[in-house]
Amino acid sequence: MEYSDLLIEHHGKVAVIRLNRPKAMNALNDNMMNELGDALYKFDADPGVNVIILTGSDKVFAAGADIAAMADYGYADTYPGNYIGRNWEHILNVRKPVIGVVAGYALGGGCELAMMCDFLIAADNARFGQPEIKVGVTPGAGGTQRLPRAIGKAKAMDMLLTTRMIDALEAERTGLVSRVAPADELMTLALEVANTIAAMPVSVAMQIKDSVNRAFETTLTEGVRYERRFFHAGFGTPAQKEGMKAFLEKRKPDFEGL
Ligand code: HXC
Repeated sequence: MEYSDLLIEHHGKVAVIRLNRPKAMNALNDNMMNELGDALYKFDADPGVNVIILTGSDKVFAAGADIAAMADYGYADTYPGNYIGRNWEHILNVRKPVIGVVAGYALGGGCELAMMCDFLIAADNARFGQPEIKVGVTPGAGGTQRLPRAIGKAKAMDMLLTTRMIDALEAERTGLVSRVAPADELMTLALEVANTIAAMPVSVAMQIKDSVNRAFETTLTEGVRYERRFFHAGFGTPAQKEGMKAFLEKRKPDFEGL
């Protein structure tokens, strides 16, 4: 599939997907979300890719769903027609790690898409917000659900009800992002982080991702049980043999293809 709204780069075992509708602040339309789903599934299935980075430009991650495209929608286009939402959650089916790398605005659906990544790295110029109330709607891709889980109820309610944006430092302080870099060093840091993960056994990275996500869907006891199954299963894998042997032999493990 040729992409018109995405740019793709490869850096070793890291695939970078760049949202690219510069004239519309990377507003997320149906075509872009189709293309994004296609790219994500393709890289998830590609043995040459261990980690995916999802990013935008140095000015904007995404300023939300495309308001021009949806302004004239009626109810029939939305719930029955399933135009907004239909292709928004492919990212949740991706089993390899997806790092969201945010510079500039991540607003509305842009913030929601960012929050569907496994973790976020932000430039110091990043701004996160859920301004949907200002265009007369509630968030529709998890803003009212993932934001309070990420940063707590008080901050989330404040952002959702007043449309206040938070900057990168507040986002880091509140736990929405894991690291912040100066804007011109963002991709260097992001690739360094991604390459660190890409050098680990991809099978274990996938299990960790699965297990952490399970924590948000189940009780603590069930979650630990889920984790323990992966831990035990690990003893039947080459990754465990190589990892533990390399430690005992005081050498770097070689997890290539594991
Ligand atoms: C369509 C958009 C857009 C959007 C910006 N543009 N955001 N087009 N949908 N979400 C367009 C503008 O119309 C403009 O086009 C061009 O991008 C540049 O934007 P400006 O506003 O001129 O730039 P600036 O003054 O720098 O302001 C940047 C901004 C602002 C703060 C990001 O554009 C903004 O507030 N955007 C809307 C944010 C928003 O409300 N998002 C939530 C959408 S609802 P022209 O042609 O005039 O140059 C949503 C629901 C998700 O996301 C549901 C998921 C299922």
